[in-house]
Amino acid sequence: MHYIKKEFEEAIKNIDNNEALKQLKAQFLGKKGRVTELFKRISDLGNEQKKEFGKNINQLKSYIENAIKEKQTQINEFVKRKSLEEESIDITLPSRVSNFGAIHPITKTIIEIEDIFKSMGFDVETGYEIEYDKYNFELLNIPKEHPARDMQDTFYINDNVVLRTHTSPTQVRVMQKKNPPVMFISPGKVYRRDSDITHSPMFHQIEGLLIDKDIHFSDLKGVLSEFLRMFFGDVPVRFRPSYFPFTEPSAEVDIGCIICKGKGCRVCSHTGYLEVLGCGMVHPNVLRNVNYPKDYNGFAFGLGVERFAMLKYGIDNIKLFFENDVRFLKQFSF
Ligand code: PHE
Repeated sequence: MHYIKKEFEEAIKNIDNNEALKQLKAQFLGKKGRVTELFKRISDLGNEQKKEFGKNINQLKSYIENAIKEKQTQINEFVKRKSLEEESIDITLPSRVSNFGAIHPITKTIIEIEDIFKSMGFDVETGYEIEYDKYNFELLNIPKEHPARDMQDTFYINDNVVLRTHTSPTQVRVMQKKNPPVMFISPGKVYRRDSDITHSPMFHQIEGLLIDKDIHFSDLKGVLSEFLRMFFGDVPVRFRPSYFPFTEPSAEVDIGCIICKGKGCRVCSHTGYLEVLGCGMVHPNVLRNVNYPKDYNGFAFGLGVERFAMLKYGIDNIKLFFENDVRFLKQFSF
């Protein structure tokens, strides 16, 4: 019996997995196992010996059972620890760099301007980039052969269809669709045959129109001054008489030069001011063209988004917006 115990102890020492442990268990405690065989020998013994022998076998059996159980626990522990080690994450590793997309500076500027006007109660409307001559010019009080057409070098698709040169046709489109009062801005792309460091053949404008009863030039001044203050911060604003066929009187709006703070520099052509907006009281001919009642009037304005973005972010070449160099665009991903 002693040698069986020895044999078992030798065998279990080297066991390190469940499968081998199962086999060992069968080898000693199974139906034909070494211990089970011992029980069969009891019948060959005398009564006195039987008792002693039986007791010894039972002791051996429970010794083996306990040893197997203990081994089982050890193996389980080992397996668990090993899998935890394999699954462990090295948190000291530097992370992989991910490239996040960002909103384009032009889109960002449009959203910012929209938010300001929305906060004042303006709606947002859209127009068409390919427009009839009638909407781009004639209904805005710019007849064919009118010298004012020279102000805007136009891409013609045919005699009657153009790539819109400004967002102003949206004024007419919305007024034809809606009865007064109306109050909206309209952002979008416009096209002109023009290309240098401050002009691009395609650029963005935001149009604004407010029509109601009893609207005065002071309302125009108030809305635009407040808008410019909200967008650029505390800058001087001045209104200068100007001419647009679809507004009367017309004005251009300047802000104090952001670069030189009004001292005079190359950017502001040494005037201390930068032109940022065209505006005016809507011309009676335009209101007549859309059959608006006589007791309604209002104001309109138009601004170039690229110019606003260039001034706000200190960008000196308009082409940077359209080259889509990630190193440039990345700077606006905040
Ligand atoms: N449409 C004009 C332009 O593109 C700007 C403008 C809009 C002026 C509305 C007055 C009123 O230059």
